[in-house]
Amino acid sequence: MIDTHSHINFDEYKENFDDFLRDIKNNDVEKVIIPGVEPSTFSEIIQYTEKYDMLYGAIGIHPSEFQTFNEESEKNIYELAKNKKIIAIGEIGLDYHYGADTKEQQKNIFSKQLEIARELNLPVIIHDREAHDDTFNILKNFKLKNVIFHCFSGSPEFAEKCINAGYYIGIGGVVTFKNAIDLKESTKIIPIEKILLETDAPYLAPVPFRGKINTPAYLKYIAQEIADLKGIDVEEVKYQTAVNSKRVFNF
Ligand code: NI
Repeated sequence: MIDTHSHINFDEYKENFDDFLRDIKNNDVEKVIIPGVEPSTFSEIIQYTEKYDMLYGAIGIHPSEFQTFNEESEKNIYELAKNKKIIAIGEIGLDYHYGADTKEQQKNIFSKQLEIARELNLPVIIHDREAHDDTFNILKNFKLKNVIFHCFSGSPEFAEKCINAGYYIGIGGVVTFKNAIDLKESTKIIPIEKILLETDAPYLAPVPFRGKINTPAYLKYIAQEIADLKGIDVEEVKYQTAVNSKRVFNF
């Protein structure tokens, strides 16, 4: 499996990073993508992805950190994204849950980062929280080939709209939560060829670890839930989502 979205807290595993990676591998995860959040996270992502084969990175500024976007960080993103272990721009997008009063600034910075992705011909990892329409409409203008809605939180109708636009859907631990009724319904209708697995560690650990610190090693619980919802074998979910990831990120 490939964990397409995991924020690894490098400091926490510093002493035993090799054990941490071994545990992930022993749980059937062959690659992990670590998305950027704001400029201070970039250098560790570059450092660790260059050092460890199984780690890949994305570079971008999260909508909650949009104030850190300026001429300097823009140039930084553009240059760092050329690194061969950096395989996407992200995570970028819109968050109206925490930033309802900064919509215009967020949209502006989202667009500027999409422009970088277009220029470098890289996939984009999208954070969309309570901002489905604006996110979709901005993306439409850019006509990018590889778009991933990370930690998808829309309705089945919105999932259909995204699939029709050719986008990929990242499904994480929330799908295992008993009350995630909409996401469970969406998962049933999203073709397996359009699903990417992700943990969004250290957040949103799947059942039976809900509320605990998440790790890519828990990815199999998400694969199992998707298999159960779709009535297919878990091995098919593992295999097909890995194929999808390789296609999108061009590993
Ligand atoms: Ni994230």
